[in-house]
Amino acid sequence: MVEPKSYTLPFVLLVVLLNKFKAILCYAPADPTYGFSPVALTPENLELQRPYDVPLEERYSYENGVHKLWVYADDKPHDPNSLTQPRTEIRIRGVDYSSGVWQFEGYGFVPNGTSGATIAQIHGAAHGATTLILRIYNGDMRYYSFDLVATDLYDKWFRLNIIHDVDGGMVTVFIDGVQKFATKDKGPGDLYFKCGVYAAPANISYYMESRWRDIKIFKKCES
Ligand SMILES: *[C@@H]1O[C@H](CO)[C@@H](O)[C@H](O)[C@H]1NC(C)=O
Ligand SMILES: *[C@@H]1O[C@H](CO)[C@@H](O)[C@H](O)[C@H]1NC(C)=O
Repeated sequence: MVEPKSYTLPFVLLVVLLNKFKAILCYAPADPTYGFSPVALTPENLELQRPYDVPLEERYSYENGVHKLWVYADDKPHDPNSLTQPRTEIRIRGVDYSSGVWQFEGYGFVPNGTSGATIAQIHGAAHGATTLILRIYNGDMRYYSFDLVATDLYDKWFRLNIIHDVDGGMVTVFIDGVQKFATKDKGPGDLYFKCGVYAAPANISYYMESRWRDIKIFKKCES
């Protein structure tokens, strides 16, 4: 048996403490909502858009706090005068913004089979119609049809946080509290968040569905 030398214990404690600090500083990411305050939402803030020629209950249900939205590839647009792709979406109303730092939070679920569907977006921009499009292709989430944001999202609930720093011109996406993607925005505009299903221009499944619960909007606290 080797007796530990007298300095060994304090040294070990110091190393343990330093490692704990390192863990706190490096490995525990701050929650994306830290420093933000929630904006009160009521059901009136959630406007539903659906193919104009079908009743809402044929494309949307709300049960046990879960919004379920679905659409078919050959559905009509939300408005008879629109030439856009079919959608069933929640457009968050009453909290449009044009400056400051804003955040969307929601728990999303996409069933296996849904592909080529935008499940969340920031509508509005100085250039183009949207600032951010998050699409599911074969279970992976992409920025439009480009950058990979997250993989393997079918058939599970995930927490989505989107921070739009309009003043800083940046958009950041978090899945389950972990930052997955950041990009420049497309300039200020009449900006608002949406979630649901909106068919991409190409490579879409016939049936598209996403589910959402605990939808929240936050605004960064003034510092
Ligand atoms: C999705 O469904 C297909 C066809 O049934 C199956 O081959 C695939 O493994 C499923 N993917 C996941 C992630 O469950
Ligand atoms: C559609 O899928 C094909 C085959 O995977 C691919 O080559 C093409 O780039 C995709 N188109 C779009 C617009 O994503």
